[in-house]
Amino acid sequence: MLWRSFPLAAAIASSVNAATLRFSCSQLIVERLDPLVNPGMNPSPHLHQVVGGNAFNATMDPSIHDLPTTATCTSCTPTEDFSNYWTAVLFFRARNGTLHRVNTFGNELGYTGANGGQTVYYLSSGKVTAFKPGFRMTVGDPNFRTAQELNAKYKYMDYTCLQTSMTRGGQTLNFPTGPCPAGIMVSIRFPTCWDGTNVDTPDHQSHVAYPVGNACPASHPVTVPQVFYETYWDTRPFNDRSQWPADGSQPFVWSFGDKTGYGLHGDYVFGWKGDALQRAMDTNCNSDLFANRINCNTLQTQSLDQANKCVAQDAVKENLDGWLTELPGGMPIA
Ligand SMILES: *[C@@H]1O[C@H](CO)[C@@H](O)[C@H](O)[C@H]1NC(C)=O
Ligand SMILES: *[C@@H]1O[C@H](CO)[C@@H](O)[C@H](O)[C@H]1NC(C)=O
Repeated sequence: MLWRSFPLAAAIASSVNAATLRFSCSQLIVERLDPLVNPGMNPSPHLHQVVGGNAFNATMDPSIHDLPTTATCTSCTPTEDFSNYWTAVLFFRARNGTLHRVNTFGNELGYTGANGGQTVYYLSSGKVTAFKPGFRMTVGDPNFRTAQELNAKYKYMDYTCLQTSMTRGGQTLNFPTGPCPAGIMVSIRFPTCWDGTNVDTPDHQSHVAYPVGNACPASHPVTVPQVFYETYWDTRPFNDRSQWPADGSQPFVWSFGDKTGYGLHGDYVFGWKGDALQRAMDTNCNSDLFANRINCNTLQTQSLDQANKCVAQDAVKENLDGWLTELPGGMPIA
């Protein structure tokens, strides 16, 4: 089962054979690197916001770059999670055409003390097999610009126009069309069925698949936890309609040049230490909804303050602040 309306519904329904592990990962770095899609490239074509272990690097060859032993800290609250989680970065394009980066901020359901980043979930309903060392995947396609393209290939990725931090429901597959008083929440949910063999594939996607009905297809028979990102984008400073496009369209654009929102995508590199994730799923760990607390005696955790202290060195060093004349890397907006 996939949780379309988590967290509120799922937290209440949390049952014996379900893990609803939810935690905060503070911002580790915002930079143009993408070790999964563009390994070794510095800078990568578009800008990302990255959370997780500080072993994040331009090159993360799984055979030589073991995250739990390479990283010395994590920006996530479970201290055995050295995975990296990343997405593109949101920009506001003012009426005069200049661009300003939008910050992430701590999820107001429990994580206001987080220095940006995102909320990460691992969800299960019934027995799941945790990812293996070296496992990585992406979901979404940065080239998509229509609902038809998105619907034909992916599920469960959407935008919530936050009226308050509690708003749930009313999701859209594209950017909200009007100002969102409490920001924009972007939800990215990965597929939950694995082929059982490949920790990666050249497209970073073919080794995973969505369930058909409630069961994994024969091609991808192994049920894995549902990895789910919730990112709060602080669009609140950009809600002045006089600065929005004169033609009435919305002003936000992804760092890869998408002004529709249909190109949303996420990247995941598994990096939990030992069997910590498997144990957490097997013991049906869950998390409080309104506090930074994981109810799980198999996991060690740190405070948001401690998680905030884990940051990565900026390996790209380009200016990302203030009003910019173009997207980082000169990504065309189209
Ligand atoms: C990133 O990789 C470079 C080159 O291999 C290395 O010098 C550097 O220490 C690495 N940084 C981290 C944070 O692992
Ligand atoms: C463009 O618009 C923004 C938002 O109003 C403003 O802060 C900035 O100074 C403007 N830049 C130029 C070059 O006019």
